[in-house]
Amino acid sequence: MLRAVARIDTGAVQRNCARLAAELAGGAELCAVVKADGYGHGADACAAAALTGGATRLAVATGAEAAQIGRRFAHVPLLTMGALGPEDLDAALSAGSAVAVWRDGFLRHVADRARAQGSTARVHVKYDSGMGRLGNREPAEVLALLGACAESPDLEPAGLWTHFATADEPGSAFFDEQLARFTAVAEEAKAEFPGIIVHAANSAAVFRDRRSHFDMARCGVAVYGLDPFQGNPAERGLSPALSLRSYVADVKRFEPGDSAGYGRTWQADAPTLVGVLPLGYGDGVRRGLSNNAEVLVQGRRHPLVGTVSMDNVTVDLGPETDVEPGDEAVLIGSQGEEAILAEELAARLGTINYEITCGISARVPRVEG
Ligand SMILES: Cc1ncc(COP(=O)(O)O)c(C=O)c1O
Repeated sequence: MLRAVARIDTGAVQRNCARLAAELAGGAELCAVVKADGYGHGADACAAAALTGGATRLAVATGAEAAQIGRRFAHVPLLTMGALGPEDLDAALSAGSAVAVWRDGFLRHVADRARAQGSTARVHVKYDSGMGRLGNREPAEVLALLGACAESPDLEPAGLWTHFATADEPGSAFFDEQLARFTAVAEEAKAEFPGIIVHAANSAAVFRDRRSHFDMARCGVAVYGLDPFQGNPAERGLSPALSLRSYVADVKRFEPGDSAGYGRTWQADAPTLVGVLPLGYGDGVRRGLSNNAEVLVQGRRHPLVGTVSMDNVTVDLGPETDVEPGDEAVLIGSQGEEAILAEELAARLGTINYEITCGISARVPRVEG
C-alpha cells in the first residue's frame, strides 16, 4: 500500500532497446537518451537495462546528469547534448563525456577547460539543419569547427550531428529537407574526418526512415516504451516501462448533491460510492485531469471526479462496488485486462507522453519491478 509509486519494468526497457537495435540499419549504434532522470523513469536503472538490451552509448542533457551517469557507467561512451555553462562544462568533461559544440568561442573554451583538467575533450559538432534551436546553420562553419578540433591537441573531433523538428509528423516534407541538408554536410565531413560518427535520428526517425540512421540513433521516448507518434506503443512492438500506482485510502457514500474536492466541480447526481486516492498534482497527476481521466481499480475503469488536489484525487466507484480501502489504484499502466497509457493522459491534457512521465514528481519513488 504505497501512497504513490512509479513501478519501472526494466525488462521492458531492455526489450524496447533490443527492438530498436534490431530496427537500425547497417550496424548503426543505439544511444539511449537518459536525460531528465530517464524521462522520469529513473536514469541509472534504465541506462543499465538499455545497455543490456543492446544500447552501446548513452546521452544526457546537463552537466549534473553527465556526472551521475559518468560515475556509474564510466566505460560507456557518453554525450552531453545540451548548452553548457562553465560549471556544466566542467562537470561533463570530468565525467568523461563528449560535449556538443557549434560556436568557435565555445570550442576554445572547451579546449581550455580540457587542458586544465589534463584531458582531451571529445567534441560532437552540431549542425542546425532546421530545428532552429542549438547548432550552427552554416555548413562551412560546421566543417571548420571539426577542422579546428582536429588541429587542437586538447580536442578530438568525435561527431557531427543534427536534430529533426518533425520526425514525429508522418508525411512532413520538412523532415526530408533536413535529412537532405544533413546528408550533404555529413558526406563532406566523413570524407575529411573519417573517424567521426554522424547521427541525427531520434525515436520517431528510427521508425520513419532508415536513411536517417547513419552511424548512431539517439533514442529516448521509445526506450521507455512510449510511442513517438502518440499512438499505441504496442503497434510498434514497444512495451511501456512505467506504471503509476496508488491505493484506495477511503470509500465513502455520496448522496445526490454531495460534492468532491475544491470548487465542488463534481456533484453526485445519484447515490454512489467515492474512493479517495492519496496522490495528486504534488505527485505529477496534473490538475487538468480533474473530471477528465479514468483510474483502474479491481481491473475496471472508474471516472476521476472532482478537482485534483495536491495530495488527493477522488474516483466514482458506482453505487454498488466491491472496491475496498486498501485496493490498488492505477493511474498509468495495466491492471487485469485493462490498461491506461501515458498517451491517453497526454491526449486528454493536450500534451505529449514525454511530458506525462517527466512530470511525475520527485516525491514519487521509482521502484523496479
Ligand atoms: C537532441 C536530442 N536528441 C535525441 C532526443 C531523443 O528523442 P526521442 O525521445 O524523441 O527519441 C532528444 C529528446 O528530446 C533530443 O533533445
